[in-house]
Amino acid sequence: MKTLIRNATVVLPHDTLRTSVLIDGERIGAIDPAIHTTADEVVDAHGLHLIPGVIDDQVHFRDPGLTHKEDLAAASRACAKGGVTTFLEMPNTNPTTTTCQRLEEKLLLAAGKSIVNYGFYVGATTDNVAELRRAERTPGIKIFIGSSTGNMLVDEQQALERIFAESSLPITAHCEDENTVRANRERFDGGRSVDDHSRIRDETAAILATTRAIDLAKRHRHRFHVLHVSTGAETELFRDHSGLITAEACPHHLFFSVDDYARLGTLVQMNPSLKTRADNARIWQALLDGRIQVVATDHAPHTLEEKKQPYPKSPSGLPAVENSLALMLNQVNLGRCSLEQVVHWMCEAPARVWDIVDKGRIEVGYDADLVLVDLGRTATIRNEEQLTKCGWSPWHGESLTGWPVRTWVRGHCVFAKGKIDATRFGAEARFDHARGGYWATQD
Ligand code: DOR
Repeated sequence: MKTLIRNATVVLPHDTLRTSVLIDGERIGAIDPAIHTTADEVVDAHGLHLIPGVIDDQVHFRDPGLTHKEDLAAASRACAKGGVTTFLEMPNTNPTTTTCQRLEEKLLLAAGKSIVNYGFYVGATTDNVAELRRAERTPGIKIFIGSSTGNMLVDEQQALERIFAESSLPITAHCEDENTVRANRERFDGGRSVDDHSRIRDETAAILATTRAIDLAKRHRHRFHVLHVSTGAETELFRDHSGLITAEACPHHLFFSVDDYARLGTLVQMNPSLKTRADNARIWQALLDGRIQVVATDHAPHTLEEKKQPYPKSPSGLPAVENSLALMLNQVNLGRCSLEQVVHWMCEAPARVWDIVDKGRIEVGYDADLVLVDLGRTATIRNEEQLTKCGWSPWHGESLTGWPVRTWVRGHCVFAKGKIDATRFGAEARFDHARGGYWATQD
C-alpha cells in the first residue's frame, strides 16, 4: 500500500519545507517524490503540517493488573488520537515488570492489544541485577528512587551502587528523596489537604534525589535520564553536558502549579508534586536552552472515583497522552516555542535518548510513523470525549489551538477525521544501545 501525502509543510531534520511525502508500505518511501508518482491513496495536506509521530517515553498503562483504570487497548487508542505513535511504558503494573519473563509477557500482551508501537522498561528492585543484566528488547532500566504508585522503592545506597555498577542498559529514575518525604509527612501529620502534598514532596526532596542519582551516574559513567523534572533548582544540575545525563519535563509541571490546587484539588495531585509558577518558568527555560531534552507525559490514570477521595487517600497521577501534543502546539501558537522545537522534544530527542531504531524523524527509510497537525484548529478538551479508560482530563474545559488530525503507525492510518481505526496492531520498537544515546547521535 502506498499513500501520498501531498503539499504538507513537512518538518524534516534540518529544514521545514512545503513538499509531499510518499509512504511505501511501513516506511517512508520518498520525500518530494516525482510529480507523476502514483499511490493507492492521496491525502491533500494543503495548510497542514506533517511531523514525525510523537514518542512518549514515560507512560503508565496499568496492563496487566489495574485494567479497571487503563489498558493497552484504550491507552493506545488515546495515543493514536493524540499523535503518539510509540510509547515506552513503566514497570509499576501488577505484577511489576522486574524479570525478563515479565517483560516478554508484556510484549506479548501489547502485540495483541496496542494499535501504536510500544516498548517496556524493566524495573529495578533491591536484588534483581541479574535480570537487569539479561534484559534485552527494552529501552532501559527504571528505578523508583522515591516511592510512588506501586511498591517499587529502591533507595538503599548499596543497592543503587550495584545497579549502576553492574548493569549496562541506560537507567532512568523517579527522583524524590524518601527520607525527606517521610520527615515532611510526619511534620504535616500525614497531610490534611492536597496543598500539603507539595509541602511533603517538596523542592528539597526532588533536588536531593536528583543530585544523588546524577552523582551515581557520573561515578559509574552510566547513561542516565532524569524523569519529570519538577523544580527550577534541578535544572541547574543539567549544565554539565558530560554526555551522560538527559532530562525530561511533563506538561503538568510546565502548565500547572500549586496555585491550581484551589481549582482542581486532587485531580492535579501527582509525584513529583506541583511546585510554583516560578518553577514552571524555569523548567520551560531549561527546555528552550537545551538543558532538558524531552517532553513526555507520565500518563498515570486513576478513576475519578479514586481521585476524588480525600487527601491523602487520593492516588497520585493524571492522564495526558491524548492531549500532550495539542498542549505543546498551543504553545507554538502562543509564540512561546517553534514547531521544530516541539518536534525535537517529543519525537527526535526521545528516539535518540533511548536508541530507538528508525523513528523520530521524517527521513527516507524511516518507519512511516507520521502525524498531520492543523495548527489553526481550535477545540476544547472534554472529559466525555477522552479515549483513556479513566475518562477524564485535568485540562477539561480548556480550549487549545493546534491539534493532530491524522496519525499513521508504520504506514497504517490509525486516526483520521476524528475516528480510530483499530484493525491493525502496532509493533515493538527496536533499540540499538550500541548507538550510545542522545549526545552520541547528535548531527
Ligand atoms: O503521580 C505519579 N503517578 N507519579 C508516578 O511516578 C507514578 C504514577 C502512577 O503510576 O500512578
